[in-house]
Amino acid sequence: MNEKEEQRMYKEDMIYSAEGAPADEPARQFVFTEKCRELVLKKERETGRRLTFFIQTFGCQMNARDSEKLAGILTRIGFEPAEDEAADLVLYNTCTVRDNANQRVYGRLGHLNSLKKKNPDMLIALCGCMMQEESVIEKIRQSYRFVDIVFGTHNIFKLAELLYEKLTRRDRVIDIWQETDRIVEELPAERKYPFKSGVNIMFGCNNFCSYCIVPYVRGRERSRRPDDILEEIRALVADGVIEVMLLGQNVNSYGKTLDTPITFAELLRRIERIEGLKRIRFMTSHPKDLSDELIEVMANSRKICRHLHFPLQSGSTRLLKIMNRRYSKEQYLAMTERLKSRIPDLSLTTDIIVGFPGETEEDFEETLDVVRKVRYDSAFTFLYSKRTGTPAAVMEEQIPKEVAQARFDRLLKEVQEISAEVCGKDVGKILPVLVESVDERDASLMTGRLSNNIMVHFPGNPEQIGTIVDVRLNESHGFYYMGESTQR
Ligand code: SAH
Ligand code: SF4
Ligand code: F3S
Repeated sequence: MNEKEEQRMYKEDMIYSAEGAPADEPARQFVFTEKCRELVLKKERETGRRLTFFIQTFGCQMNARDSEKLAGILTRIGFEPAEDEAADLVLYNTCTVRDNANQRVYGRLGHLNSLKKKNPDMLIALCGCMMQEESVIEKIRQSYRFVDIVFGTHNIFKLAELLYEKLTRRDRVIDIWQETDRIVEELPAERKYPFKSGVNIMFGCNNFCSYCIVPYVRGRERSRRPDDILEEIRALVADGVIEVMLLGQNVNSYGKTLDTPITFAELLRRIERIEGLKRIRFMTSHPKDLSDELIEVMANSRKICRHLHFPLQSGSTRLLKIMNRRYSKEQYLAMTERLKSRIPDLSLTTDIIVGFPGETEEDFEETLDVVRKVRYDSAFTFLYSKRTGTPAAVMEEQIPKEVAQARFDRLLKEVQEISAEVCGKDVGKILPVLVESVDERDASLMTGRLSNNIMVHFPGNPEQIGTIVDVRLNESHGFYYMGESTQR
């Protein structure tokens, strides 16, 4: 018996012999999973049907990866996935990075309330970043009494225990942790795609950009141990995964706080050596921590995708300072130059905030200037959203909505024009495409992604899903190509 099997046996022993639940994680959760499973089976015998769950993700890729873990736990408990909110358990994994993310959650909750009136046994659960805000919890306590389970970002691994509590205690369960230094490994996960997966390499954020709420709701930066990451990726590859997306709020600072520090570039070198893994992506790269070592590893890699998401936020050095981004316009431009010269086929994408407090017309022009110089493949543009508790929320000179909106429209137009030109540059080439799905609008077409993350549609068959095929790029439509497979 090898060490891993021994560990597994040990866990199973604990489940079957446990009188009370053990304090160790994740062993404790395996016990609650079993306890919940019995209750679910009982309910299934009563109703004569399987119980279902539905999870809606409102936030970023990290939020989405959390949802896969939550789905993994619910699946182990015995729930089946449902297509929509007409389910026995509905879980909203929320986001609070901008106010519109919050508003969407409140809007949808109204709809859930009406569904629950038809099915009083329905369970409604909320988790994710919004739940780490006190004002939100207060509002839910007062005005959303039909919500059964509420938890935050630090204790998603506890879902089985919280569900058990709810099912046996009847009144609602609210469990929010302010902070945590633990990382619970080895939770089950149900992946959305069999052939690709997100992999957390770190949690939290220490950067405190002055507009951003993430450090407050995700806690301090914690890196996972490289061996745990490598082991997870090897297991994913053994299970059919060929592409991984390494996730962290600032992957470029990965490993700095480990007992034995290692760099992100070194982690990438080790991941590259995993046999069977074909593509490596990562996000997000904070410009202040981009190293020459990383650029070299990317340039020399056969697996790291030709795409870097490189958030600018603003092109004005003055505003960048107030945003606490810790790089200047000139430094940012110099980095993109170096990236492009070392990795000529690299596609650059970015995030930009418009209407940050005190933003002048000159500041905004600086942003446009960077956009014109870098020529991004695409850019996510956001209207500044005031987040209570962040330094920017109390800054004077909040920008009037109309001014911000007008700048936003100008920026968007610029970004789109450039992107249509940049994205078409590979017309005529034959490039590898990872086939992801049948095209949503035309079932004779397949949809996949180039290494640089641009979508390609081409005639094919569903058997190609999850494989990499060579496709000739015939036409560019700005954000995607139409092509034809050169393999028969
Ligand atoms: N860690 C990543 C960003 C995560 S949040 C990074 O540092 O790049 C994703 C994006 O949301 C940010 O890049 C930023 O452009 C945007 N964002 C964050 N807070 C915002 C706010 N208060 N208003 C508008 N956009 C915001
Ligand atoms: Fe927010 Fe800045 Fe952290 Fe990104 S690096 S999550 S923008 S505080
Ligand atoms: Fe939103 Fe939380 Fe991600 S606030 S962007 S879901 S880290």
